[in-house]
Amino acid sequence: MAKILIKNGRVIDPASNVDGVRDVLIENGRVTAVKSRLTLRQSPAIDAKGMLVLPGLIDMHSHLRDPGRPDKETIFSGTRSAAMGGFTSICCMANTSPVIDTPAAVKYVLSKAAEEGAVNVYPVAAITVGLKGEALAEMGLMREAGAIAFSDDGNPVADAGMMRKALEYAAQFGAPIISHCEEKGLAHGGSMNESALSTAIGLPGIPALSEEIMVARDIMLAEEFGLVHIAHVSSAKSVELIRRAKRRGVKITCETCPHYFSLTEEAVRNYDTNAKVNPPLKSKKDVQAIIRGLKDGTIDVIATDHAPHNIEEKNVEFNRAAFGMVGFETALALALTNLAETKALKLKNLVKKFTVVPAQILNLNKGTLKVGSDADVIIVDPKAEWTVDPAKFASKSKNSPFGGFKLNGKVLYTVVGGKVVVKNGKLLV
Ligand code: DOR
Repeated sequence: MAKILIKNGRVIDPASNVDGVRDVLIENGRVTAVKSRLTLRQSPAIDAKGMLVLPGLIDMHSHLRDPGRPDKETIFSGTRSAAMGGFTSICCMANTSPVIDTPAAVKYVLSKAAEEGAVNVYPVAAITVGLKGEALAEMGLMREAGAIAFSDDGNPVADAGMMRKALEYAAQFGAPIISHCEEKGLAHGGSMNESALSTAIGLPGIPALSEEIMVARDIMLAEEFGLVHIAHVSSAKSVELIRRAKRRGVKITCETCPHYFSLTEEAVRNYDTNAKVNPPLKSKKDVQAIIRGLKDGTIDVIATDHAPHNIEEKNVEFNRAAFGMVGFETALALALTNLAETKALKLKNLVKKFTVVPAQILNLNKGTLKVGSDADVIIVDPKAEWTVDPAKFASKSKNSPFGGFKLNGKVLYTVVGGKVVVKNGKLLV
């Protein structure tokens, strides 16, 4: 594998406390030097002057729809979409068809990813068989097969006793449980946030309480039985519950997604089904609380919840449309534009939430540019302004509410294990 020298970029590597102009050398798939000035005979260098050089991003939460829905996404297309967004490692959720609830299904994802993936893929296995909440899946065997975490994402684990057992098992394997917090009785039949707006536009609402009541339950379970990671936090009260729990020393971590700090429920006023997502977009007050949570460390991670859906499931009346939006190709730019540019979050803190923190939660030896680590590296032009055009996404699905948005920050290079997969903003694979 060729050597790659990246010169003059602003290297931000929170794990090694580096933020400054450095040169980065990649040899045989690893980072072999990060220094102030490196020269290398015969190897042309990439000039990254004015650019950010970051550890490849890690997405704890995505949906690749493989197996089962190749019309929406595959491991081939999803990993290319991820690479375009600067993600070099992604976790894919188990709500596929069939569900990833057996060791064979975990192995299928891993072998398909090895065959055709452009980035590293880590399968998240189901907690319960068929995501039905009735019987625990073979967690130990799935862990042995390569599952990185467990989640019934898309569905909550409604039965607290079941969740307790899952936490106890998962603690033995050192793998986190990722909890989709939704109390179905409260959410039932809703399609947007329950508010004055839902009444005004005549859509059935989902109260924020349906998320918060389960966050409260999971905090209590985590206090007794071990680590819980809360997926896609969207409400102010959830942030406050988690903040207080952390202060008490409860073992709990959480993520939010770019749409929860970039959009309010106003995005669905015109019935844009691309903005229909679960949990639903909330009020301005909630968005501000999410940003405060990111800032003070209550929210550990930014994950995409990349959820591809085809036009047939989105181009229908709002109530019948599928929940979810694609996210890989806009996540970093939304964070740079809405958090870093506005000074809500320092760049180093932002990078942390996309790299070393998810790596720690997942016990992954990634998310850093330390010498010796896997050469998963990205180069980003932080100032490049671009207009989001979902038609150009590498993802098979185009269900983004951000079409037409002007964002800052473009991924120019994505290097995975020393292999350049995106160059000058274009896929090479
Ligand atoms: O909006 C969502 N879409 N939320 C989820 O929890 C699941 C996801 C999907 O699989 O489409």
